[in-house]
Amino acid sequence: MTVAVSPPTIVSGSAAPLIDVRITAIRPAADDTRLYDMARPDGAPLPAAEPGAHIDLNLPNGMTRQYSLVIAHPLPDRYTLGIKRDPASRGGSRYIFDELKIGQALTVSAPRNHFPLAADAAHHVLIAGGIGITPIYAMTQKLGADRASFDLHYAGRSRRQLAFVDDLAGAAFAHIHCDDEHGGALLDLDRIVSQALPESHFYCCGPTPMLEAFRAATAAVAPERVHFEYFSPQAEASKAGGFVVELARSGREVFIPPGQSILETLREAGLTLDSSCQEGICGVCETKVISGVPDHRDSVLSDHEHAANKTMMICCSGCKTERLVLDL
Ligand code: FES
Repeated sequence: MTVAVSPPTIVSGSAAPLIDVRITAIRPAADDTRLYDMARPDGAPLPAAEPGAHIDLNLPNGMTRQYSLVIAHPLPDRYTLGIKRDPASRGGSRYIFDELKIGQALTVSAPRNHFPLAADAAHHVLIAGGIGITPIYAMTQKLGADRASFDLHYAGRSRRQLAFVDDLAGAAFAHIHCDDEHGGALLDLDRIVSQALPESHFYCCGPTPMLEAFRAATAAVAPERVHFEYFSPQAEASKAGGFVVELARSGREVFIPPGQSILETLREAGLTLDSSCQEGICGVCETKVISGVPDHRDSVLSDHEHAANKTMMICCSGCKTERLVLDL
């Protein structure tokens, strides 16, 4: 998940509070896809959410998973998540489908957004693959309400697998592409990008092959106009260690040994640091870099942001220099 326009989230050194919610509704949305509504037990408003935002869902089995919000409101009385049962589930979506019922108490984080809409875009081109529609659907609601200029290209293997397809099918902005209706041909991202209005901003959320094709198709587009969000890590975490992290606020130095992440080592050294996915896809552990060259392994920051070396994800990224000075 990444954007070039979002301000960096600087880890403050304190764990964020959790929010108590209960599941209030579970609705089918497509094959193996459901919508889960959750609200505070007393019905009080939840923290504001913007399109593209996601929350952490803390499951009773001890797992934490990140899901994008389908609807984004300034003062929401509920959060709605679109969740697809993943056949390769490591216990997250499988547990949710098999175990969570209406009334189940859970905790969630406040929304975080590493995939926001660009406020100044002349035109927005939204591209979603399968369950990647969840943050994109929230964007269509906002852009529609704002009467903004935008198009949606929404693709999947078949219509049965596409959530919200009936809502969207009649909308002038929506272009639905089902592979099985085109002889198995995939959505032509090169054509979409090349035919877009000048100065368009491009957004993509979907499976990894779609995101790789999107990044190739937008390679010549200015990085600040290209926005994408991954579901899964794109690189192995760096555990090479062998460097020193200097904590700029105290001047303390901590050696990162081989086999450990910066986050793990700093926690063992007594720091309280926020994290969630611990695999470089949620952006919670983003930390400002003062000097040194990180070995970026996250899927949150763009190539442009990686090259700038202004921030890094300390759960998965390492260091290419002997010393790294962090704003901690
Ligand atoms: S904890 Fe999710 S990116 Fe580091």
